[in-house]
Amino acid sequence: MKSTTDSKEYFASIEYIPTATSTNTLLIEQDFANRTVIYTFDQTRGRGRLDRNWITVPNKSLALSVGLRNINIQPIWITAILSVATVNTLEKYGLCTAWIKWPNDIFVGQCKLAGILTESTWKNGKIDKCVAGVGINLNSTAEELDSLITNKAATSVIEQCGKQINLKDFTNDLLENIVKYLVLTESGNISEIKQLWLAKTKLIGEKAEVSEIYKNSPTVSGIIENIDNDGFLYLNDGTNILKIVTGDIRIIL
Ligand code: BTN
Repeated sequence: MKSTTDSKEYFASIEYIPTATSTNTLLIEQDFANRTVIYTFDQTRGRGRLDRNWITVPNKSLALSVGLRNINIQPIWITAILSVATVNTLEKYGLCTAWIKWPNDIFVGQCKLAGILTESTWKNGKIDKCVAGVGINLNSTAEELDSLITNKAATSVIEQCGKQINLKDFTNDLLENIVKYLVLTESGNISEIKQLWLAKTKLIGEKAEVSEIYKNSPTVSGIIENIDNDGFLYLNDGTNILKIVTGDIRIIL
């Protein structure tokens, strides 16, 4: 097994596709080699959690998916790796206020800047393929985002930092960070990535509402007490501690 932090050596292949429907779909439908990366700046049918669409401005955003085989950690920690890698890369570009909104979004203030979708297929009771994809708004203007995304507040790196991002450079920097955190968890030990992830989630101790725990589920509210090693979130509603696997979270300020 290769042990390097150089992304060009670490990954079996890194393929740029000028236009793609969904980088996650393209990968999961293939019998890909472990550590395969595909990316595009023009994704036309991006997908998000809960069958939502991930809509982006062509050639102003990154859609990148990493394909892994036979992972020895839970898929939630691959989401965490991409989340922490994204936040670190944003910091390199001068955006230091991005935070991770459990389970899979990157926000600046109350606006979404990036999202992660991790999908797995199983074979003989084990995870066979794990595909984790990240979508990041880089050079999209506020006007472009407003006209495309009407139901939620979105933002981009250019809107936050006021400078144009070189898409290829950003992708290479992100890949270097992804490798760093994949190597960190290679032994199956998630304690370090968990600490880094928790430090950027800003959730523990906060009052929050959680909806869409399942399709159209009632909203529950309470204090977030913990996120455990399986990525479950524990919400104290004043009477019970609710263990939540996924959902849309809103911090009550
Ligand atoms: C979400 O908002 O729920 C997650 C969005 C994830 C979007 C990324 S872009 C790369 C990869 N390909 C997809 O179709 N989705 C993910």
